[in-house]
Amino acid sequence: MFKKLGIALVVGVAVVAVAHSQEVPSDFQLLWAIFAMIGAVVFMMLDAPPLNAMHGGKSLFAVVAFWIVVITVCIAGASLLPQFDPEDEREKINKLLEKQRAASQQGKAEELIARAKALDEQVKALEERLQALGAGQAVVAMSAPPPGDAKPAGAASGGASDVMKVGEEQWQLQECYNCHKLRGEGGKKRGPELDNIGSLLTVEEIQEKIVNPKSFMAEGYEKEWQKGVMPDKFKDLMDPKEMLALATWLGNFKNTSVNTPKPIKK
Ligand code: HEC
Repeated sequence: MFKKLGIALVVGVAVVAVAHSQEVPSDFQLLWAIFAMIGAVVFMMLDAPPLNAMHGGKSLFAVVAFWIVVITVCIAGASLLPQFDPEDEREKINKLLEKQRAASQQGKAEELIARAKALDEQVKALEERLQALGAGQAVVAMSAPPPGDAKPAGAASGGASDVMKVGEEQWQLQECYNCHKLRGEGGKKRGPELDNIGSLLTVEEIQEKIVNPKSFMAEGYEKEWQKGVMPDKFKDLMDPKEMLALATWLGNFKNTSVNTPKPIKK
């Protein structure tokens, strides 16, 4: 009998060791250890001396009593083991899902923020293009004067940088770039490159050239000057302020590495 108890212990410990090495949850390790012990008890009972034969009501009572004892032991023993509660499990699953949901919601929020940033950049780019195309004073007025501007913010006449903005705007609006190359852009047709015009003409002279293209002639452009290629419509298309702004803006171009032809007073 002690031999059998020893075997049962060895088997039980072996089962638990194997289960442990396979990372079986500890509840199941305990359960299997108990099964091993129950097996050992059954094994040992095989050696128990036979009971005396019973008859009649006594035998019926013995069978019923035996089952009551077995069932009570089973239920009592089982209730000592950890119980499976569906509510518990649902809670655990919910907690896991909550984390995942939160993570995916944060992911969505980040994606939205990234999209908003991209849109904002597109809007800024469009605003710049609108300004460049001369979409009107409204856009210029909307943008705040840059820091360091001496004039108080919102001054109606605007600071120096506003004059520059209007000047560049007029360059684009009047399509001077159709004939004149500037900053390496435009000028597919006929006119001289203007990047050094500020070294050759004063602002007043540039303005005069815009008002009356015949007033000056670019050296080497005799034919074009005679034909009147540079239109003299600009004085009708710009108000004096805009013209001054354009001339002032152009007067800033003093890139001596560009060969702007010398203007000759006619
Ligand atoms: C249809 C073509 C054309 C357009 C548009 C045009 N120009 Fe001209 N421009 C010329 C030509 C050709 C010359 C050279 C002949 C001359 O001096 O008239 C010239 C000369 C000039 C010169 C003198 C350059 C030099 O080196 O002496 C200036 C300054 C100038 N243009 C400014 C402008 C401005 C500012 C505009 C826009 C408001 C403009 N031009 C629009 C064709 C054009």
